[in-house]
Amino acid sequence: MKLLITGGAGFIGSNFIHYWTHNHPNDEILNIDSLTYAGNITNLASIKTNKYKFTQVDICDTEEINKIFKDFKPDNVVHFAAETHVDRSLDKPDVFIQTNIFGTYNLLEASLKNNIKRFHHISTDEVFGSLDLDTADKFDEQTSYKPNSPYSASKASSDHLVRSYAESYGLPISITNCSNNFGPYQHPEKFLPRIITNLIDNKNIPLYGDGQNVRDWLYVEDHCRAIESVLLNKSTIGQTYCVGGNYEDISNLDIAKMVLDIFNLDDNKIEFVKDRPGHDIKYAVNWTKINQDLGWKPKYDTYQWLEKTTQWYIENESWWRPLKTEAEQFYAKNNQ
Ligand code: NAD
Ligand code: TYD
Repeated sequence: MKLLITGGAGFIGSNFIHYWTHNHPNDEILNIDSLTYAGNITNLASIKTNKYKFTQVDICDTEEINKIFKDFKPDNVVHFAAETHVDRSLDKPDVFIQTNIFGTYNLLEASLKNNIKRFHHISTDEVFGSLDLDTADKFDEQTSYKPNSPYSASKASSDHLVRSYAESYGLPISITNCSNNFGPYQHPEKFLPRIITNLIDNKNIPLYGDGQNVRDWLYVEDHCRAIESVLLNKSTIGQTYCVGGNYEDISNLDIAKMVLDIFNLDDNKIEFVKDRPGHDIKYAVNWTKINQDLGWKPKYDTYQWLEKTTQWYIENESWWRPLKTEAEQFYAKNNQ
């Protein structure tokens, strides 16, 4: 395979490139990433194979994207690049509209012109909006879209565009809508790395609102395995798959307590802070379809891999320290 990966210097993209080069060493990969504040090329420094290459490019740059497709001639595109943080989308939505919608459109056009075999779009469960706290319902492939933040609305728009390119022009696409990931190389602006690095710094855990919001957590390698199973299964053209982890609801307060337990600290490190506007109360994903069609299911236990992830942050302070300084300045400016 010749894989064009967008956003491969970010959290999930870089984990995916590590996973793919390890498991499919004969495949060629070109990673294109504009290296925004969320992109970090050092995530991939340990990859030594000459089958992997990186080019710094903005997916919104039509001319550059056309050149990349013409020169590299990918057969598969795996599209991770996006603006991804809900809090930043509330502060400055414009770049989310530009990258997540226009950038995706640009890649779809280039894919169409270059007869790509597969355009795989990485999306989120947040496009479905929010579930009620007390419901046993979960999002699945039939759930209607009801995004609540500029981030999720821009991702929803990109999903619609991707689907429309299959329906209107026959572009061979697939989409995965995945729940909240955790693992190494996640920017310390996001909840889990933020609370882990706060505890390393002997600071409190800031919980938005009353901490009862529920997220569906998935270890990042399980997400990579799900994308792999979609890409390698020839029968999945045009399909959408929901990907998630938890069997039971886990609130932010539960997660905070799990991390405190790993640090051997008690609950007085928890600080309830101002809630996020439009804060989705609950995400939960029904991943039956990908399980039945492709045999995928999550492999990694949340608590055990939370412990390993915490250890990774303890051992890799030089990676997250500069990023945390900027992230905390952003939160301070927004009183979070
Ligand atoms: P991230 O913010 O860590 O990384 C995003 C990457 O995209 C960065 O390397 C950034 O430099 C790059 N990028 C941003 N704008 C770009 C542009 N205009 N041109 C080229 N590159 C650009 O994000 P992530 O958490 O790794 O998420 C990757 C994808 O997975 C996103 O599409 C996101 O919506 C989706 N997703 C994430 C999660 C999660 O829990 N993190 C869950 C479900 C889906
Ligand atoms: P986040 O990592 O931003 O992911 P998303 O909002 O896309 O699900 O946040 C995960 C959950 O944690 C969400 O309910 C918001 C909450 N949260 C806090 O309580 N405190 C924090 O400092 C952050 C960053 C998030």
